[in-house]
Amino acid sequence: MKISGLGVDIVETARIKKAAKPSFLKRVYSESELKACMKSVNKYERLAARFAAKEAVIKALDKKDIPLNKIEIINELSGRPTVKIKGLNKTFIVSISHCKQYACAVCLAM
Ligand SMILES: CC(C)(COP(=O)(O)OP(=O)(O)OC[C@H]1O[C@@H](n2cnc3c(N)ncnc32)[C@H](O)[C@@H]1OP(=O)(O)O)[C@@H](O)C(=O)NCCC(=O)NCCS
Repeated sequence: MKISGLGVDIVETARIKKAAKPSFLKRVYSESELKACMKSVNKYERLAARFAAKEAVIKALDKKDIPLNKIEIINELSGRPTVKIKGLNKTFIVSISHCKQYACAVCLAM
């Protein structure tokens, strides 16, 4: 499978915590993502990591016109994150890391 793009992004967890009003959450995240993150003790880290992952996907695709809440970052049972964009026939590999201050993600598109 040929790699068509690579993206990386880093986000300050505090910025996401400050922005996390209902309108922002609805615009950026899918229901499944919110369900997965909001129950966690480190929910803002996880939301920040998903924000970074979505930006990394956009960079990998070189395509800015996809609404952020249509780019879904969903964990497999093992915890491994995956990318799903309805109606787009692309394969992605994404990796995420987060700590108290920062979250980052890298994405390969194929
Ligand atoms: C999975 C693991 C690599 C995560 O690393 P971490 O430093 O704890 O946490 P990070 O912030 O860097 O990464 C967390 C992200 O890793 C991703 N992740 C979890 N399991 C994963 C897996 N099986 N494969 C790929 N990515 C995975 C998730 O996206 C997770 O974020 P999320 O829960 O918000 O989706 C780690 O917990 C682990 O199991 N390491 C194995 C070695 C070990 O036990 N080391 C400790 C020795 S003291």
